Amino acid sequence: MRNRILSLILAGSMVLSLAACGEKTPPASSAPDSSEVTQSAEPAAAPIEVPEDFVLIQGGTFQMGSPETEAWRSADETQHPVTVSNFYMSAYEVTQSEYAEIMGENPSNFSGDTLPVENVSWLDAVAYCNARSEAEGLTPVYTVDGQTVTWDRSAIGYRLPTEAEWEYACRAGTTTPFYMENSPSAEEANYYGHYPYQIEDNYFNQGVLEVKPGEYRQTTVPVGSFEGNPNGLYDMHGNVSEWVWDYYGAYPTEEQTDPTGPDSGTLRVYRGGGWNDFAKNVRSAYRATMEQGKGSFNIGIRLVLNAAAGTGSVAGTNTQNTGSSGGNVLIAYFTWGGNTEGIAEEIQAQTGADLFEIELVEPYSSDYNTVLNQAQRDQSEQARPELSTHVENMEDYDTILLGYPNWWASIPMPVASFLEEYDFSGKTIIPFCSHGGGRFGQSLTAIAKLAPDAVMGEALSIHYSGGASMPDDVAAWLDTNHISAN
Ligand SMILES: Cc1cc2nc3c(=O)[nH]c(=O)nc-3n(C[C@H](O)[C@H](O)[C@H](O)COP(=O)(O)O)c2cc1C
Repeated sequence: MRNRILSLILAGSMVLSLAACGEKTPPASSAPDSSEVTQSAEPAAAPIEVPEDFVLIQGGTFQMGSPETEAWRSADETQHPVTVSNFYMSAYEVTQSEYAEIMGENPSNFSGDTLPVENVSWLDAVAYCNARSEAEGLTPVYTVDGQTVTWDRSAIGYRLPTEAEWEYACRAGTTTPFYMENSPSAEEANYYGHYPYQIEDNYFNQGVLEVKPGEYRQTTVPVGSFEGNPNGLYDMHGNVSEWVWDYYGAYPTEEQTDPTGPDSGTLRVYRGGGWNDFAKNVRSAYRATMEQGKGSFNIGIRLVLNAAAGTGSVAGTNTQNTGSSGGNVLIAYFTWGGNTEGIAEEIQAQTGADLFEIELVEPYSSDYNTVLNQAQRDQSEQARPELSTHVENMEDYDTILLGYPNWWASIPMPVASFLEEYDFSGKTIIPFCSHGGGRFGQSLTAIAKLAPDAVMGEALSIHYSGGASMPDDVAAWLDTNHISAN
């Protein structure tokens, strides 16, 4: 059992009663350090044990989001001032041994006691928070009722950070894309080291890069393997992404204090990027999304404890359409080199579903080096290239099997044009992605953001053309998604 030290968390009631007695209310910045007991409880303070690997994050105000000048930012990173109160944050991502000790199981894709737990859904993360609170005599902060989770802000127990707390803690006062002065090298963070920051626009001129391509480990590494950020938090960029409380939604533009995100939604946010992400997607401001019931080998958990009891509760209404896949199926795909097309044709042969190719009015160059440039330019500008093909009867389809090559760790922009052209609410989108080693990259986040009202099925990633096992892989994937074969 971990070594613990006693710290004191002041209950909101104590702050109020001190104020009522005319005593000086402790300023936000005077919350106790985890290494000392600052008050001898008088009257009722609620002492709890703060694990010694938790760091006190002193509250304050910061600009959440990224400036418009930041390379590879997304439109959903609108800067706005946010104030957060003090809180404690775990210095490390939750390890597999910590998770297994409480939950009695280890769902991780990689295996190792000191590796971060991954392949946990947001709902798994919430369950872990509550179970660990119970195991350690704290108050579970979440009430789970099916897909609806309510957070009691007055309870002091383990919880997920809010999106604002996560970014504030990661930035540690910095306003740059990453908390380190330069963008991270592969020796400073565990990410897809072949693709450091701004490699996309400098692929043929790497001499100008701030950080050169480095090792791609293709796995998680033991937590805390690299230097921490100025707050003493490890792996905030890379290793695994971390679930936060918030539903995904547009940021408000006005000033916020301790925001908790939208009241309802279909997608939860996860932050920080992981071992499989390009540097642009481990930036402090980058926002990734997924449905709360799904996990990935790239997403884990970091815990927070209140430094003082909050007030009220936050209910999160899940508005995800839970319709099952099937019905009338359309296979829609974009291809450049033909690999995705080959997979689409195999799916067509196995299902008999309608086949539709997403094509451009002005097709990309057939030259590889040229298309690399065109693709990064379109992605950087978030272009929506004009399509020459259209589905005239989209309302007739219930399920869309959406195929595309992984381009620069995301979708080709013609797929974004396609997703914006139709209303997918009530429909199921099941992605299949052909890739050169990066699997989905952040393409599932990109699709979810563009079609937030669609149900997302279990996606399939295929290495290039998929080789001899591709037909079997397709058959198993169709089965998983309950798409009937011919
Ligand atoms: C512009 C461009 C960008 C690419 N970016 C990635 C990438 O980030 N990660 C990856 O694994 N593969 C990447 N690839 C490789 C393709 O995903 C892979 O070759 C795929 O099989 C191509 O499918 P297609 O033949 O249907 O076009 C890229 C290819 C191109 C042309």
